[in-house]
Amino acid sequence: MILVTGATGTVGRPLVELLRAEGVAVRAVTRNPRAGLPEGVETVVGDPAETFASALEGVTTLFFNPAAFGAAAAEAVARAGDHGVRRVVLLSALAAGNETGRYLTDVAVRNRAIEDALTATGAEWTILRPGAFAANSLAPWSGQIRSGDVVRGAHPGAASAPIHERDIAAVAVRALRTGDLAGGRHELTGPRSLTQEEMVAAIGAVLGRKLRYEEITAERAREVLVGHGLPEEHAGALIALQGASVGRPAYVTEEVERILGRPALTYERWAADHAGAFRAG
Ligand SMILES: NC(=O)c1ccc[n+]([C@@H]2O[C@H](COP(=O)([O-])OP(=O)(O)OC[C@H]3O[C@@H](n4cnc5c(N)ncnc54)[C@H](OP(=O)(O)O)[C@@H]3O)[C@@H](O)[C@H]2O)c1
Repeated sequence: MILVTGATGTVGRPLVELLRAEGVAVRAVTRNPRAGLPEGVETVVGDPAETFASALEGVTTLFFNPAAFGAAAAEAVARAGDHGVRRVVLLSALAAGNETGRYLTDVAVRNRAIEDALTATGAEWTILRPGAFAANSLAPWSGQIRSGDVVRGAHPGAASAPIHERDIAAVAVRALRTGDLAGGRHELTGPRSLTQEEMVAAIGAVLGRKLRYEEITAERAREVLVGHGLPEEHAGALIALQGASVGRPAYVTEEVERILGRPALTYERWAADHAGAFRAG
């Protein structure tokens, strides 16, 4: 039995689908009684920080998504071994490896603390450190693209190597099922560096429309992200990181291809897979 935390999240949903498609027994924790998870998934409903111990009964393998535990994440992952878990795959972040970065964010510090809590346990561990999710485009851009051809944001030249969530999920399946990746901190990125402008153009190409990126101030962009539910400090750090990446191609790894034996999925492919979110009506 594999326990998937954060099962309704960006990575959790494709992960649960892939595991079920392979016939693996999956238990999922969610606060949502109508989580819409695939048939056959055993669901534990409630605040994960409270249901975790009972959800771990009979579980030897755990996918741990800190987002589902908030401030309790490090303590929760440290305790997993007490309940019989032998293998843990942690969803961390690329930034966790950047301890001396000028724009070291609280997200990076937090992920690093959770990594340290996990590696101090006796369990076999695999750490996945993805870079920017392609899915970050959904909240700030989908509404704008549904209602017009202009996308407003800061730093049009900001670079990232957006990764398709399905690639993170596929790597997680490998780690959960085989233990092949154990003891590694795997830096996962999309296949190439793209600017914000290029990403918007790629969505336009998928939709058959010419979309334009219009620059707004960093302060305004921060407000927009906060309006989409991002905590103030995360939004500020994200915009600062974007500013710092202008004119510098993003860090790209070949880890996804090395692990999966096929190229990482492109941003264009991600946009095609999510085209419905950008189409009006
Ligand atoms: N976005 C990026 O570019 C990026 C890059 C690298 C790493 N990461 C890391 O990836 C993780 C996020 O992954 P994700 O997008 O798959 O997760 P997510 O969608 O943010 O969260 C996963 C699930 O956790 C539950 N959840 C969310 N907030 C909660 C809260 N306050 N209390 C309890 N449960 C909560 C929700 O499930 P229910 O509603 O079903 O309970 C949600 O579906 C973060 O730890 C982040 O550091 C993100």
